[in-house]
Amino acid sequence: RPGAEEWVPASARVDKLAQAVHDCRGCELWGPATQAVFSSGPDDAAVVLVGEQPGDREDREGEPFVGPAGRVLAEALEAAGLDAEQVYVTNAVKHFRFTERGKRRLHKKPDVAHIRACVPWLEAELSAVRPRVVVALGATAARAVLGHEVRIGAERGQVLDGETHDVVVTTHPSALLRLRDRASYGAEFDALVADLRTAADAAA
Ligand code: URA
Ligand code: SF4
Repeated sequence: RPGAEEWVPASARVDKLAQAVHDCRGCELWGPATQAVFSSGPDDAAVVLVGEQPGDREDREGEPFVGPAGRVLAEALEAAGLDAEQVYVTNAVKHFRFTERGKRRLHKKPDVAHIRACVPWLEAELSAVRPRVVVALGATAARAVLGHEVRIGAERGQVLDGETHDVVVTTHPSALLRLRDRASYGAEFDALVADLRTAADAAA
């Protein structure tokens, strides 16, 4: 079956995975993208954050969460008392999926097939990092981490016990960028911070 499996080196450290990902042809998303975007942060972190996929900025710079969603995430981490330098940050899907609209590249959600194809990378990362807690940011990440569809509203903020690590599901920071009025932004931001704090406590 198609998927990243044959490109993922066995029992490899994060630095080796991060090199190997550039050769991945596990789905068609590598073609239009500038480059694969792997992870940032220490490879022995207690907390792993999983996003959806790189955005436009991440695709150009080769680093996760360096664009607008990354700014929201950094603020939320700080408010939750989590040191951004101490968490390992990655994405469910390692290549940017987009549609072209003139000169602009518009984010397009990955399909379930892309999430499935890419999940061997995430599994290899979790085997290498061995975190205590994995935070899934949004529905795509939750599907990748838990292996099934998740309703974020129903599941968010709970500590889901796993065999090797706990999982906390929360919203994606980019969802906050769409909120126009201050009050709803504030409420959603506080909810994100509360979920991150729950994850921090579970990791402590
Ligand atoms: N959104 C994500 O899910 N991941 C990134 O790296 C950037 C934006
Ligand atoms: Fe490989 Fe994932 Fe990129 Fe698809 S999105 S080519 S599976 S790294």
